[in-house]
Amino acid sequence: MDSPSVEAEQFERIKTSVFRNSDEAVRDVAASISNLIRRRQSERKNVVLGLATGSTPVKLYQELIRLHLQEGLPFANVISFNLDEYYGLPPEHPESYHRFMAVQLFQHVNILPENVHLPDGMVDRSKVFEFCLNYERRIRDAGGIDLQILGIGRTGHIGFNEPGSGIDSRTRMVALDRITRRDAARDFRGEANVPEHAITMGVGTILEAREIQLLAWGDSKAGILRIAIEGEQVDSVPASYLQRHPNCTCAIDNAAAAALTRFKTPWRVGPVAWEPSLIRKAVVWVASELKKPVLRLRDEDYAENGLTSLLVETGSAYRLNLRIFNELQHTITGWPGGKPNSDDSNRPVPAEPAQKRVLVFGPEPLDAEIGMGGTLNRLVNHGHDLTFVYVTSGNLSVPDNEARVAISLLNEIRLAQSEQIPKLLESLAAELGTKAAYDEDSAALRQFKGLIRKAEARAACQILGLDLNKVDFVDLPFYETGRYRQFQTTEADTQRILGLFKTVRPHQVYLTGSGADPSSVAGIVYRVVMAAFARSRTEDWAAGCQFWLYASSDRAWLSHEIDMAVPLSPAELTLKLECLYHHRSQRNQTPFIEHDSGESWQQAENANRATAHEYDKLGMAEYEAIEAFRRVKTDR
Ligand code: F6R
Repeated sequence: MDSPSVEAEQFERIKTSVFRNSDEAVRDVAASISNLIRRRQSERKNVVLGLATGSTPVKLYQELIRLHLQEGLPFANVISFNLDEYYGLPPEHPESYHRFMAVQLFQHVNILPENVHLPDGMVDRSKVFEFCLNYERRIRDAGGIDLQILGIGRTGHIGFNEPGSGIDSRTRMVALDRITRRDAARDFRGEANVPEHAITMGVGTILEAREIQLLAWGDSKAGILRIAIEGEQVDSVPASYLQRHPNCTCAIDNAAAAALTRFKTPWRVGPVAWEPSLIRKAVVWVASELKKPVLRLRDEDYAENGLTSLLVETGSAYRLNLRIFNELQHTITGWPGGKPNSDDSNRPVPAEPAQKRVLVFGPEPLDAEIGMGGTLNRLVNHGHDLTFVYVTSGNLSVPDNEARVAISLLNEIRLAQSEQIPKLLESLAAELGTKAAYDEDSAALRQFKGLIRKAEARAACQILGLDLNKVDFVDLPFYETGRYRQFQTTEADTQRILGLFKTVRPHQVYLTGSGADPSSVAGIVYRVVMAAFARSRTEDWAAGCQFWLYASSDRAWLSHEIDMAVPLSPAELTLKLECLYHHRSQRNQTPFIEHDSGESWQQAENANRATAHEYDKLGMAEYEAIEAFRRVKTDR
């Protein structure tokens, strides 16, 4: 954990601990929960925990289970109250929070069933008010909540207190925000299937807890955390009311902390060590603040924006500007696999070997196409030996409607050719006829949905000119046996990636997910791939292998972060979009980013155009679009 100076935290209105990764954070939070439980146990008293669901606490619950199994942490004196439940979902529903809590925690520890409380998603409408009053009463009767665990939604919600929830709000029925429903769309296979209402504790209820710990991981939470932690207290960001609480702490990872002032513009909070990456960040920041190209920045532009120390360090604006201009210029290359027979001293990728073995990982179909569709096309055109690996089939996010379309297509083929198509089709059609939209799929239906995504993905790869013999699906076990937000990895996952490394022996690896929520598919795949690489270090190919991160739809790379910028011509951008359209089963499931409520292909187009525009504003050449990459430092 970083231990910042007092100045560094001056903008933060909630005490915030930033950890290198979520594992470290979770160990810390679990230790404090464990201490509390044990202390109360020694006093022969109960402890009342307020619990959350969603991806964020999954690892925390795993750590608590570990403490229970390996270190005997008892749960017999624990009373729990969950924040919320979807309205209309029965407890046995796969996406209900009842089921989530049972599977993720309660089944594995010795908590007494009568001590577990969650809002009832099935309570009759006419009884909701009474139920909510009663829920509050039960919290009070238990002695009030000792420690409340919270996640934060991208709307700024805590519990399901969406924007507009006041500080005095109590347990009640609420309507879910559109962004929240979109964020849950993949869990429910389509936004239309996400419940519209929920029962949640209120902001006022939450603030009555004696202690609160808010957890958050990954890039996608960075923006809202800054507003909640550093902004004004307002109804439009209910999490901002945590600033009022005398004993509230945020435990967040590096990626989620990125937008806090002490990380975003650290020179504004105190003295800094001017490392090259920070210098580039500061120059790009001044240029964007002043809307000036880098080469036109003056000494006073730096001075007036609190960057005198940078001028002192580097001499003058003139030299500084030139240096950063060149650095940015050198990130741009139309040769993502290296330019053969040319001086590569200022290029992001070495010239040799001219034909590289390139390994591209797509966590789910569509991820790599969004992040680097144009670059994939270039790598193929430049004759590199490219292996494209879809790490999972993506079957979890295929809506039933898409399965219906596919069955009906296959039926047409059967009728036209009057051939025997396996009984499977009939049983799948029967299942789709009877199941409710968000019932769990049978193994056969899930496999069929995987085929739909594989078919879309292969068609999309053809658009990019990839050799289909080199497009693989490795179907990592964690995905095939899991659900969104609840995956568990095992050694078998790492072994498959190790096997791939052994056969491909890549010069370049492209992947994503470094800053993703660690429980998301991309976040898990990133960690599995890097763990496999760490175990391959002694192999001859590993020393020279470059790892490149393409941007995810969660977050585009910012100009100062980019190590390689691959420009796309108008024709290349059109080709990329054509490829993305093939992933039609993914319509209506893309989380909204910033103010972009478009489909993933529109978001990708906007993001690539925006990167080009940012480079243009900094004084680089004006391109139609740019795909951006960051280099992963792999040397020890
Ligand atoms: C869950 C809850 C929500 C989540 C929030 C973040 O009980 O009340 O506020 O904590 O939506 O969700 P994840 O963790 O899935 O990003």
